[in-house]
Amino acid sequence: MKQLKNKHFVLGLTGGIACYKAAELCRALIKEGASVQVVMSEGATQFITPVTMQALSGRPVFVSQWDPREGNNMAHINLSREADAILIAPASAEFVAKLLHGRADDLLSLMCLARPIEQVPMIIAPAMNKEMWANPATQRNIEQLKADGAFVLDVAAGDQACGEVGDGRMLEPEQILEGLRAHFTAKVLNGRRLLITAGPTYEAIDPVRGITNLSSGKMGFAIARACWRAGADVTLISGLVALETPFGVKRISVTSGQQMYDETLARVDSSDVFVATAAVADWRVRTTVDQKIKKARDKSLPKLDLVENPDILKSVTMSTRAQSGKLYCVGFAAESENLEQLAIAKRQAKGVPLLVANLGPQTFGLDENSLLLVDESGTRQLGWASKDDLSLELVNEIASRISK
Ligand code: C5P
Repeated sequence: MKQLKNKHFVLGLTGGIACYKAAELCRALIKEGASVQVVMSEGATQFITPVTMQALSGRPVFVSQWDPREGNNMAHINLSREADAILIAPASAEFVAKLLHGRADDLLSLMCLARPIEQVPMIIAPAMNKEMWANPATQRNIEQLKADGAFVLDVAAGDQACGEVGDGRMLEPEQILEGLRAHFTAKVLNGRRLLITAGPTYEAIDPVRGITNLSSGKMGFAIARACWRAGADVTLISGLVALETPFGVKRISVTSGQQMYDETLARVDSSDVFVATAAVADWRVRTTVDQKIKKARDKSLPKLDLVENPDILKSVTMSTRAQSGKLYCVGFAAESENLEQLAIAKRQAKGVPLLVANLGPQTFGLDENSLLLVDESGTRQLGWASKDDLSLELVNEIASRISK
C-alpha cells in the first residue's frame, strides 16, 4: 500500500540551502502518487527558483499573498483547504519562530495560521546551522510548536553547507517520506517494544567458507518498517543482508546464530512483542579453523562435524517473560511444500500463539510474498502482495491480538 497515494500536500519552502533537497522531495512525492502544491517564501526563491518547483510539481507556484491568480484573491485560504497536510521543508529557524508567534507577514506563514488546525496537520522538517539548532531559543520554539500540535521531524547530523559539522541538516527526501508514511499510519503499536530477528545467519567453517541460506531479510525489514510506522519502538537483529536500516529502527548486526541468540535473549525482558523472521542456520560446525582448509592431494573430502544451533524462538517462548504473558511471540516458517500442514505442526512445536508461514523458494529475494497466518482458531491466507503491504496487515493482526 502506498500510504501517500492520492494525498494532497502543500509543500512550503523557506530560506535555506536545503531547498535543493525540496526539489527531490517534491519529485518523490509525485512518484508516490501524491499531488503537491508548492508555496515558497521570498527567502526560498533565493535558493531555488519557482520555475524548478513548478516543473516538478506540475502546478504554478505561489510566493506572494498579493498574487492575483486566485479568483477571490485569498490564496492563503484556498490553498490549504484541500490539503491532507502542510509540509514545511525546509523549515528555517526564522520560519519556526514566526510560526510559533502566529505571525503572518507572507503567504506561507499566513496560510499556516489560517489552516483548519483539526483537519490539516502541519509537518515540519527543520534545517539550519548546528548552532542555530542548538540555540535555546530554537529548542524552546520547537517544543512549543510540538505542544501546539505540529509534527516536527528530526534533524540529521553531518556536514553542513557552512563547513561546520553537527545537528541541524534537513533529513533526506526518502526519510521525510518515511516520516509522512508514519504520520498516515494508524498508531496501533504505540509505545510497544518490538524485537525482530531477520535475514540469514552465517556459520563459518573456515575464514572464507560458511553455511548460510537464501533469506534476503526483506520480509523482516518490511515488518520492522511497518512496526515503526505504527508507533512501536523497534529493535531489529539482523544477519548479513544488503539492506538499509529502516528509518527510526535500531539495528543490531550479527553474523552467526549464536550471536543472534545472545543479542536476542539479552533483550527479552525489555520487549513486548518478539517476531522471529530470521532464517537461522540449523547447524554450525563444531569447531571453526583459523586458516582456509586446503584441498587434499589425495582428493579425500574434509569432514564437517556439525552441531545444532540454539533455537532462538523456542528459548524466547520458554522465557519467564513469554510464559507470564508479558511477551507476545510470533514465529515464521519457510517451507517448500505442504505449507498448511507443516505450519500447524510448527506452531505447536514452537509454542507460539501466532505462526506465519511462507513458501521460501517462491519469495527469496523478492519484494512480494504471500503469507499463511496460523493461530489457535485456524488459518488465514494473505494473498500475493508486496512485503510492505503484508507487513501492515500483519502489524494489525498482532496489534489486535495483544490488545485483547
Ligand atoms: O524450525 P524452523 O527453523 O523451521 O523454525 C522457524 C522459526 O523458528 C522462525 O521463526 C525462525 O526465526 C525461528 N528459529 C529460531 N532459531 C533457530 C531456528 C529457527 O529462532 N535456531
